[in-house]
Amino acid sequence: MSARLLCALAEVPDPGSRGFELARGEGELPFSLFVVRKDGKLSAYRNSCPHTGAPLEWLPHQFLDRDNGFIECALHGALFDVHTGRCLRGPCVGDHLQALAVSVREGNIWLASTEPLVPDCPTR
Ligand code: FES
Repeated sequence: MSARLLCALAEVPDPGSRGFELARGEGELPFSLFVVRKDGKLSAYRNSCPHTGAPLEWLPHQFLDRDNGFIECALHGALFDVHTGRCLRGPCVGDHLQALAVSVREGNIWLASTEPLVPDCPTR
């Protein structure tokens, strides 16, 4: 896959998050991902909780907890580090979200690939 434009950086507040559904081949489910900004850093993850594979957001584009301190899974409340995707509390402690490579060019966020940066980190 070649790099894909996601949105303008200005469309993602700091702190904040935004979800995306990328079309794939006919008959395939869209590829779901999200980006998060916090403390001037940008990260991207596949929208799939390591606990059950469920999507994480509470509401459209809302992946962070109430205090914008962690990524929080809406289903069972797992908390993930915003910058590493590591689960810090909840039913999948030590597991990781699948990180994706993104970059910012000319004020826009680009997804480099839908392949995870670190496939299935060792856990626990
Ligand atoms: S599905 Fe995310 S914590 Fe259970």
